[in-house]
Amino acid sequence: MAITRRKTLAIIGGGTILAATTAGAAFLGTRTPAIALAPWEQAGQYDEPRRRALSYAILAPNPHNRQPWLVDLSQPDQITLYVDTTRLLPHTDPFSRQITIGLGCFLELLRMAAAQDGYRVTIAGFPSGSDPEQLDQRPVAHIRFSKDQTVQPDPLFAHVLQRRSLKEPFDPDRAVPDDALTTLLASLADTTNAGATNQPQLVDTLRQLTRDALAIEIETPRTYKESVDLFRIGKVEINETPDGIDFSGPMFDSLAALGLFSRDAALDTGSTVYKQGIAAVMANVDSAMGYVWLTSQTNTRTDQLAAGRDWLRLNLAATGIGLGVHPLSQALQEYPEINELYEDIHQILGANGRTVQMLARLGYAADVPPSPRWPIDAKIM
Ligand SMILES: Cc1cc2nc3c(=O)[nH]c(=O)nc-3n(C[C@H](O)[C@H](O)[C@H](O)COP(=O)(O)O)c2cc1C
Repeated sequence: MAITRRKTLAIIGGGTILAATTAGAAFLGTRTPAIALAPWEQAGQYDEPRRRALSYAILAPNPHNRQPWLVDLSQPDQITLYVDTTRLLPHTDPFSRQITIGLGCFLELLRMAAAQDGYRVTIAGFPSGSDPEQLDQRPVAHIRFSKDQTVQPDPLFAHVLQRRSLKEPFDPDRAVPDDALTTLLASLADTTNAGATNQPQLVDTLRQLTRDALAIEIETPRTYKESVDLFRIGKVEINETPDGIDFSGPMFDSLAALGLFSRDAALDTGSTVYKQGIAAVMANVDSAMGYVWLTSQTNTRTDQLAAGRDWLRLNLAATGIGLGVHPLSQALQEYPEINELYEDIHQILGANGRTVQMLARLGYAADVPPSPRWPIDAKIM
């Protein structure tokens, strides 16, 4: 589920109430979840080349920030990547298509980071085969590192630490220019195709469709609960469990401290938190100034890894030109209640038998802090 990080509950004004006391003001000044953000500072601070590359790869975008990667470093110069099957999203991503895309983002970032250090990585995706219906204990990829003086650094790597999924309302007065769309489309390296638009009529159609898809996700109890269960509210929770859908900063911390924001309140469809949350999410979606999407000819696990690779590249290219991208995956999901909108989005985007792997809104908003990450040691088997 998409939630704007700063504005969702601003209307309730918890921060203002809390700041009225001295203790409250001190509390508000110390709310950055520094432990959860430390991996962004530690990136590149490792001597061993595989760990060094991994310290960047864990910063990859991935659905609901589940960070489902696990790596085996027991063989020298090699990494075996597995998926942590306790970190899947069975309701919103029943075939783990999106989880696999996130693993593709991880692999491309790993490749770029290794290239930066003069290592070529050879990646064999799903070397022991795969199941199109579910991910299992078999490796997602075998990765071999070899020193190679001819390997070229990737210019997109420069934007890794600034890259975000920008879940903020976009500036309604700032159009996305044609050349920005061209930059995005030129960033792809794999087998995926991309399309993009800034045409008001199509943008309007997609705003409505993404809005309807979000409503279905929220109104379907099991899919909504899957998101709410992953809410991490306030500094303590985020530091302890640096994943999922994080609500950090003085506003959310104070609302949580005052008992005004909790997972239970978010699940209660009669609560103010629920109503304000939905209003904010919808306003967010309605601020789209353009869209970009990725499609693939077929929908194999290999295609999904390739889509992830290209998504990471596109997200970095957008960062490089100061353009915000915010994936909105609800209409691309594969549970029965969403089927009709799944068909609609494929038709509207002219997919013509191809699978739409990613859809995101585009626009401009102020920078936001990075999202939490588990450190690499938590991900090494
Ligand atoms: C396959 C995929 C699907 C995603 N779908 C959504 C989405 O529907 N809504 C959303 O707010 N973010 C979505 N995201 C963005 C993730 O939530 C985001 O990558 C994650 O929270 C980490 O944040 P970061 O990208 O800013 O580092 C998606 C990302 C990927 C890779």
